[in-house]
Amino acid sequence: MSKTPPAKPSHAKPAPTPRDRTPARTVALVGFGTVGRAVAKILCERSNDDGLLRLTHICNRNVERKKQPWVTEPWFPSDVIWTEDFHAVLQSDVDIIIELIGGLTPAEELVRSALNAGKSVVTANKQLIARHGPDLLQLASAKGCQLEFGASVAGGVPVLPALRTGLSGDRLHGIAGILNGTCNYILSRIETARIPFSEALEEAQALGYAEADASEDLDGGDARAKLAILALAGLHVRVSPADIRTRTIRPIDAVDFDYAAELGCTIRQISRADLKETTLFAEVGPSLVPTSSPFGRVQKNLNLVLTSGQYGGDMAFLGAGAGGDPTAVAVVSDLMFVAEGLAAGPRPHRSLQLTSPNVSCDFETPWYLRFLVKDQPGIIAGLAAILSAHQLNIDAVLQNPGFDKNALPFVITLEPCRDAQLPAALQEMSALPFALRPCLCLPILR
Ligand SMILES: NC(=O)c1ccc[n+]([C@@H]2O[C@H](COP(=O)([O-])OP(=O)(O)OC[C@H]3O[C@@H](n4cnc5c(N)ncnc54)[C@H](OP(=O)(O)O)[C@@H]3O)[C@@H](O)[C@H]2O)c1
Repeated sequence: MSKTPPAKPSHAKPAPTPRDRTPARTVALVGFGTVGRAVAKILCERSNDDGLLRLTHICNRNVERKKQPWVTEPWFPSDVIWTEDFHAVLQSDVDIIIELIGGLTPAEELVRSALNAGKSVVTANKQLIARHGPDLLQLASAKGCQLEFGASVAGGVPVLPALRTGLSGDRLHGIAGILNGTCNYILSRIETARIPFSEALEEAQALGYAEADASEDLDGGDARAKLAILALAGLHVRVSPADIRTRTIRPIDAVDFDYAAELGCTIRQISRADLKETTLFAEVGPSLVPTSSPFGRVQKNLNLVLTSGQYGGDMAFLGAGAGGDPTAVAVVSDLMFVAEGLAAGPRPHRSLQLTSPNVSCDFETPWYLRFLVKDQPGIIAGLAAILSAHQLNIDAVLQNPGFDKNALPFVITLEPCRDAQLPAALQEMSALPFALRPCLCLPILR
């Protein structure tokens, strides 16, 4: 009768747990608002999954009132230090600081002091990175620590990490995006419900998609800060947001979607940057895009970023551009990247070779001109004379029936010409006696 041999004593070591592989990195969270709370929750709920990160500090002004009911849950570490004193965080032995207070002051000073103290930083702060990103990256590199800001553009859409890793082998020359969920919500609501701009804005405010003062969103300030960051990370250029021209979406009305549809298009706030030799062509503003294009299909408050590379061609990144949880995922992913980097030991820091190109908005495209006039004979002739005097060629004239003749909207489309060819003609046309409002001029992006 054969006997089962006794099991040999195993000399193999048990499989290492993640904790054996990498010591947990300690993390301080500064700013316990919408994103901060979501980050804390993910960090603590996930800490048993991989043991890579350990939340040790939560710092906020008047911090007592920020405590959540769930801080008493078993998964929330009872030894987290709640503090209002950022300097205590700096003096602690915490490895990574997350800046989630937003704005420039005191966020800039906090981030600089953290980097100067040799602590790596993760931030979601677009204003800070758009204005000071190149200097802060340089400081991080000089201090041998890391600065990551993946959540600062397009919230939860991992486009910045893709630029840092997956696309770094390409040579990108163009980036375009729907980067502001508020504008996209408003424009796609006008498109689908044919409601006036003011009603769509009120709806967005009621749903919490737009602030009471939504100027930064509507007039392009928010999107141009994000475009400057994308240009920094993807095109390796140093560009100040203030140098990027913005156009507001406020004059867009339901009738523009009717006319755009006749051209096979819809309207979206598009941020675009094209690097051509020593010039960065960049701007943010409402634009006609084909209804069937990736941009034309983006509804509600989603974000979409398209990149164009010399070798890899076009890539698309779509998803939730804001919201506590999606943004927190981007923050935690950055934290994991930093923690893995720290665990791997010193490694050469990527020092971006940045150029400082001229910034221009002189794109060459076809154009959509929408007029609002008091009807009378000779309108088209008057406009055509001005356009012709400025060497601008009419492609089509669109006039739908049924409008009040005292406030008649109609459209002229122009064959491709440069942006710089337009302002003088637009000014002259808007001064004509039948013009009720300045002409709305939008690029048509094919
Ligand atoms: N929310 C999003 O969907 C989203 C998406 C992408 C990126 N981001 C970025 O993420 C960052 C945080 O956004 P958020 O929506 O979480 O903002 P938030 O809800 O306003 O939270 C900010 C937190 O920071 C605290 N804070 C502000 N100034 C402070 C100071 N001087 N000292 C200490 N604490 C201070 C605030 O305290 P109080 O309660 O006292 O005001 C609040 O708890 C911003 O840079 C934002 O642009 C947000």
